[in-house]
Amino acid sequence: MCGIFGYIGTRTASPILVEGLRTLEYRGYDSAGIYVPGYGAVKAVGPIDNLAKKIKETIPGTSGIAHTRWATHGAPTETNAHPHTDQSGSIFVVHNGIIENYTLLKEGLKVQGITFESDTDTEVLTKLIGINYSGDLLEAVQRTLRMVQGTYGLAVMSEHEPEKIVVARMGSPLVIGICEDGNIIASDPSAIVSHTKDVIYLDDGDMALIEKDSYQIMSFEGRGREKTTEKIEWDLEEIKKDGYDHYLLKEIMEIPKAIENTLRGRLIPDKGRVKLGGLEKHSDKLSGLHRLTIVGCGSAAYAGEVGRYILEEYAGVPTTVELASEYRYRTNLKDSKSAVLAISQSGETADTLAAIRLAKKQGLGTFGIVNVVGSTIARENDAGVYNHAGPEVSIASTKAVISQITVLIMLAVFIGRERKMSLEDGKDIIEALQSLPKEIEKVLEQREEIEKIAKKYAQFQNFVFIGRNNHSPLASEAALKLKEITYIHAEGYPGGELKHGPIALLDEKFPVVAFAPQDHVYEKIVSNIEEIKARKAPVLAIANTGDDQVSHLVDDVIYVPKVHPIIQSIVSIVPTYLLAYYIGIEKGYNVDRPRNLAKSVTVE
Ligand code: F6R
Repeated sequence: MCGIFGYIGTRTASPILVEGLRTLEYRGYDSAGIYVPGYGAVKAVGPIDNLAKKIKETIPGTSGIAHTRWATHGAPTETNAHPHTDQSGSIFVVHNGIIENYTLLKEGLKVQGITFESDTDTEVLTKLIGINYSGDLLEAVQRTLRMVQGTYGLAVMSEHEPEKIVVARMGSPLVIGICEDGNIIASDPSAIVSHTKDVIYLDDGDMALIEKDSYQIMSFEGRGREKTTEKIEWDLEEIKKDGYDHYLLKEIMEIPKAIENTLRGRLIPDKGRVKLGGLEKHSDKLSGLHRLTIVGCGSAAYAGEVGRYILEEYAGVPTTVELASEYRYRTNLKDSKSAVLAISQSGETADTLAAIRLAKKQGLGTFGIVNVVGSTIARENDAGVYNHAGPEVSIASTKAVISQITVLIMLAVFIGRERKMSLEDGKDIIEALQSLPKEIEKVLEQREEIEKIAKKYAQFQNFVFIGRNNHSPLASEAALKLKEITYIHAEGYPGGELKHGPIALLDEKFPVVAFAPQDHVYEKIVSNIEEIKARKAPVLAIANTGDDQVSHLVDDVIYVPKVHPIIQSIVSIVPTYLLAYYIGIEKGYNVDRPRNLAKSVTVE
């Protein structure tokens, strides 16, 4: 959600800043801007290309800060874009997050004669730094931060001290990249990896003074803090499109590889067990759990829902799934033998992070399934499992969701083998997991067929997805993908719920996509399909290869291999990702960057 980038070193800054913003564009793309000392700020509404076109010639100067925005306060206009500047026009700020007490601060500043041009909280912050500035930028930022409440990752520069960038973090990520020719700051390591793999992750309450050949990290009160340099574990190649037209398609096609990486070194086939390094120390706690509460948002929460079916059935762990945004504000009844498991691709989602912090405060064990190494949620959990799904750039999460479910299956084996799961069952599941990449390949091979079906269904304005058992959360997940990528209204329902209201919507123009795997509730979903066909709604089924019963009933079928029931949900969801992708393409949308969305939601 919004991206920050900054460079200070020996090279010309402006091209580095623009390139940095391009890598971060997936975090926000309403408007963007850069500031280079001695030159001032350049801003443009829309994608980074608009900004790049506006910067006609290379700006001289070897330092600067930059921002790509996802609007929170005020519409996406040039005036609201960052960097913002103070009253004197000499201090420039880029900011991610929200200043909660900005209205109060703004009133106070107005009384002092300060005027405002934008609708943003960031301008208030900037003008406050300006008021507090008396020749020392670091001190001015420190003084200001004592006055603000809210969340922020921010980078500040002054015309008077062009050789310094001051950054601070409270609730919104910031990483320092240590390069041979200078230093970089960014809200996301993906913007740094082309320059260096040596990074320092700032924690909440950290600030830093960055110069071209040094950096000092300290608390807001100025007390020095020791930080270790960490290595980014993936390569720049992994965040390129690799010949695909869109990241979304690339990431869907990467699902088999993402699963292999998620599983790598973690399966012990002959023992029917898994090795989850991060959780080993907590194995007693996990196997003795009375309840596991999974928290997450959006697709991560749906992955958690699939996990609930799996953990209860195979590991015997009573499991609840809660949307993190609800969990954090409701009364949670404590039980010392329960724990909270956060699922998050980015590891930065504000609500998920807040849920974990709340659970911790209540003395509960906190665990995580996180993709981005070194992210805040990953660092704040007691322990966890990294997905290793590789960087995900497209806004809609696909390979990471699949990887999340894969980890949940491994978790079911990890806990289950300590509880009721037999050696034989454990071995069967491990074998199923090993077969997963190749089974998914069989689905991906049907790309062209799915594209044809997508073209046929792209004309509809509404969809319902249905499924039962662990395919019921998939219905919601598939509907979410369709709505965010294609802007078609879609809902997901457990098959049995359809007749309790939504069936009233159905007619020839309201198609239903039905997950109909041949599992123990197969006959039930077949009955649901019959009910739908009686209302003349078109039905597209996701059925097991060779299933003639369903194919005779419905209008269209996408076949997926019949696999071990524990992995069936993963195999079944993949074609719906392709379906959403191709419908989005058919409708001419930018499927990688759906409107109004951002990749990591670091504000509430
Ligand atoms: C949907 C999607 C979102 C995310 C949600 C949580 O395709 O990507 O619903 O799943 O914003 O994000 P993370 O997993 O980063 O916490």
